[in-house]
Amino acid sequence: MSSVLLHAIPELAIMLLKICAFLFYLTIYSEAANILYVIPFTTKSHYITLRPIGLELARRGHNVTVITAHKENEHPPNYHQVMVKATKIWEALGGKPPNVFSTVDLSAVKFHNNVIWPGGLALTEEALQTPAVQELLSSDAKFDLVISEQFFQEAFYGLAYKYNAPLALVTTFGNCMRHNFVTRNPLQLATVPSELLDVQEPTSFSGRLKNFYFTVYELFWWKFWYLEKQEHLMKKYIPGLREPIPSLYEIQKNTSLMLVNSHFSVDSPMPYLPNIVEIGGVHITKSNSSLPKDLQKYLDDADDGFVYVNFGSNVRSIELPEEKKQAFLKVFKRLKRTVVWKWEDDNLDQKPDNVIVRKWLPQKEILAHPNIRVFVSHGGLIGTQEALYNGVPIIGVPIYGDQYNNILALEEMGYGKLLQYNDITEERMYGIIAEVLNNESFTKTAKEVSRRFWDRPMNALDTAMYWIEYIIRNNGAPYMKSQAIELSWLSFSMLDVYIFIGFLVVSSIIFTIKVIKIINTVLCSRKTIDKKKKT
Ligand SMILES: *[C@@H]1O[C@H](CO)[C@@H](O)[C@H](O)[C@H]1NC(C)=O
Repeated sequence: MSSVLLHAIPELAIMLLKICAFLFYLTIYSEAANILYVIPFTTKSHYITLRPIGLELARRGHNVTVITAHKENEHPPNYHQVMVKATKIWEALGGKPPNVFSTVDLSAVKFHNNVIWPGGLALTEEALQTPAVQELLSSDAKFDLVISEQFFQEAFYGLAYKYNAPLALVTTFGNCMRHNFVTRNPLQLATVPSELLDVQEPTSFSGRLKNFYFTVYELFWWKFWYLEKQEHLMKKYIPGLREPIPSLYEIQKNTSLMLVNSHFSVDSPMPYLPNIVEIGGVHITKSNSSLPKDLQKYLDDADDGFVYVNFGSNVRSIELPEEKKQAFLKVFKRLKRTVVWKWEDDNLDQKPDNVIVRKWLPQKEILAHPNIRVFVSHGGLIGTQEALYNGVPIIGVPIYGDQYNNILALEEMGYGKLLQYNDITEERMYGIIAEVLNNESFTKTAKEVSRRFWDRPMNALDTAMYWIEYIIRNNGAPYMKSQAIELSWLSFSMLDVYIFIGFLVVSSIIFTIKVIKIINTVLCSRKTIDKKKKT
């Protein structure tokens, strides 16, 4: 009798669990939303940052439709992919791929004029034209929320207007002029340099002047030229927009939520409206795969620690000019310890014995290896955050984009060094690597900064999920938006009030001077009258 009971208990428990799971499923299901996730920008590093958000939303039971250039093979059944071509930005520009190291000397203005703006327009048009995308947009699909990447593809914001759904934006980097303008968050030109502008001392007079100049330049062209072109694409390729169609600038101002890839513990802290939420490091998870066997052995055997060199997917080491490549090889040889280098070719002449090269390297697992001493990187945000996760010091050779600013920030915090590409010589590079290897403080600081980067009430992905679902629950949460989006620039900047006060001050000064002059003349004429009387 009792043994029968004992057998029954686990079965009963399992049944109860099943019922609970079913009820849980029901509650999730009842809150499930139809979400359109628009991340067609083709650069891999952007996709790495953005991918977990779409997948996690699907895992939570939402019906996610994603417009993307990067296919996921394993995903929940309620994750639907609408594929666009993975055209590289230089292909879209109709040119040959430039030697990536030649972009080092491109100024921020030239980078916008030659790469970002024409590339952004070409890729946006190509994505919108894609038959699969057109098919989706002409179907009778309905969406409760549109999430889009905020990166030179604004035409897609028109989808939020088309589906009459709230718009959430996600950026792959931190604070920038454009997302401040979209939400009307105050610009912080004195302390926050533009993301793509190299400013050595952002708070110095010349630093602030440079930042001001570039921001005005970017704002002017973006607002009055680039957005107009994007608006044209929106009207041309998005069918069924209700008339009268508002301007893209107006549609953009309706943004409910802005998720930014930064965190105050490592980026410039700044005032943010409640609908701007920091999700820095959202793509980072503990690695659950292991290193290939041979690599594992090499790294385990590196008793003096190893140096890891990887410039990411776009900056390929094989494009290094001969004299820089020779400098790398000589330095690595002199280091006399294991060096793991991402080298995208089968051959490497004069490879020293302590150097291991691979065309591709499992970055997460290498950065997590206990023997790693330093990461030599181009300073891309993704890799920088992954190194930070593991408390690994960085030597950064910035090439383009936000890389310079990323490295400058970590050098200032004391867990890495900046090495300018043009300064690379054997002596200089050896000196910097030796300094980081021999000075304990870099690793100590890296571990400390890592700890504070992760010290948060909720991890980055859960934070993103919370606020996205919050926007869905509260129909776009219009009460979170700044009142300033309704104000003209003149009112928002308080310029009208300042001009009025200036006018009052100046006119009362003029008035006082006039009065003093009149009193003076009256007094003077009295004196002359008195003198005359005496005589
Ligand atoms: C999920 O989204 C797809 C569009 O990608 C749509 O065809 C499908 O009907 C949606 N499913 C539900 C349950 O709404």
